[in-house]
Amino acid sequence: MPLRTIHDLNAKGKRILLRVDFNVPFDTEGEISDDTRIREALPTIQLLLQKGAKIILISHLGRPEGKVVEELRLDKVAKCLEMLMRKPIKKLNESIGEEVQKQVDQMQEGEIILLENIRFHAEEEKNDPRFIQQLAVLGDIFVNDGFGVSHRAHASSYGLGNIMSSYAGLLIEKEVNALTKLMENPEKPFTLIMGGAKIKDKLGILEKFIEKADFFLIGGGIANTFLSAKGIKVGNSLCEKDMADRAQEIEKKFEKNPEKFLLPVDATVAKEPGETVETQVVTIENVTDDMKIFDIGPQTIEKYCEIIRASKTIFWNGPMGLTEFTPFQNGTRDIATAIAQTACTSVIGGGDSSEIIKHLGFTDEQFSHISTGGGASLEFLSGKELPGLKVLYG
Ligand code: 3PG
Repeated sequence: MPLRTIHDLNAKGKRILLRVDFNVPFDTEGEISDDTRIREALPTIQLLLQKGAKIILISHLGRPEGKVVEELRLDKVAKCLEMLMRKPIKKLNESIGEEVQKQVDQMQEGEIILLENIRFHAEEEKNDPRFIQQLAVLGDIFVNDGFGVSHRAHASSYGLGNIMSSYAGLLIEKEVNALTKLMENPEKPFTLIMGGAKIKDKLGILEKFIEKADFFLIGGGIANTFLSAKGIKVGNSLCEKDMADRAQEIEKKFEKNPEKFLLPVDATVAKEPGETVETQVVTIENVTDDMKIFDIGPQTIEKYCEIIRASKTIFWNGPMGLTEFTPFQNGTRDIATAIAQTACTSVIGGGDSSEIIKHLGFTDEQFSHISTGGGASLEFLSGKELPGLKVLYG
C-alpha cells in the first residue's frame, strides 16, 4: 500500500495541521546547536504554501512530562524557522483553546502559526480522545511530517491521523523511501555499523539484519557489552552486564561465520574521561581493571575502514567512542571519513548520530541519507509498525 502524500493534495485555502519534529538540541548557552530537523521540514512547508494553505505547526520539544517548562517553549524554534523561511511565524503560547481558535480563524492563505510545545499537555502522550478533538477542530486536513516522532502513538501524530483526512509530508516520504530501500534491496556488500551506549535499543535491528547484512562492525559502549559477554575483561568501562545473555544470543548466530561480526581488537583507554587526560592504546586482552575504554583503537579503525571501503551499502548508528572529548573522537571521525570517501549508499540514523557527525565537521552532502529519526529509524528498520505512519497508508 502506498503512502498518501501531499503531492496530490488540494490544499488551497485549507487549514493544515502540520505535525513536525522540531525536537532540536540546544547548546550550553541555550541556543539551537543543530537546526537540521527544522530545515528538513522546509520542503513540506514550502509546498503547502505554494498550494495556498494556511499552516498550523505542531511540535514537541524535550520531555516536559505534561507541565509547562519555560526552557522548553518553542520561541527559539520559531525564530529559527522565521530566519530560514524569511517569513514571519506567529508563535502562540498555547496549543489548544479559545485564543488559539481565534488566531486560527483569522489566518489568511500563506500564513504560518506555530503552536506551543504540545507536550506541555499530558494528554498528548496519552493519546487522549478529548485532546485529539480539541486539536482537530483547528484544522481541515492533517499532514504528518514528524518522522522522528512517528514511533510514538501520541495525540498529535497517531491520534489526529486516525480521525482526520491525513497525508504524509515530504520528509516522511523521503525517510520511508531511504529506509525501505535498506531493508528490501540493499546493494551488496551491505555493512551495518553499530555504536553508542545502549544495546537494548539496537537488539531489534541487529536481529533483523542478521541475514541481510554482510558485515557488522561494533563499537562504542555496546562493544564492551559484547566483549564482556564473551568473557573479555573491559575494566571499568561502560558495560551492560544484565544484557550479557542477549549479547551472547546474537553472537551465537555468527558461530559459523564469525568474520561477519567484528568487535574491537584494540581500544583507546583512560582512567577518566576528559579533554586533557592521559590516554593509552591497548589490545583488547590487555584492558586492566582500572581502565575505561573510550574509543576503538587504531587497528580496529583500520580493519573497519577496509570493510567500509569495500561496501556498497552502509547503515551507521551510534558513535564509536566518547565523542564529547577530543581524545576519543578518532574512531568516529575516521569511520565517518571512510564512509564519506566511498561511493556507496550511506544511511546514518538513530540517536545522536547525525548531530555527532556534524559536530565533527561533516556535512549532509557527504552521505546519501541522514535520518532525522532517532528511535523512529531504529524501530522502522527493526521491522516494527510505527503508529504515526500506519495511519498514512492506503
Ligand atoms: C527524538 O528526538 O527521537 C524524537 O523527537 C522523539 O522524542 P522522544 O524520544 O522524546 O519521544
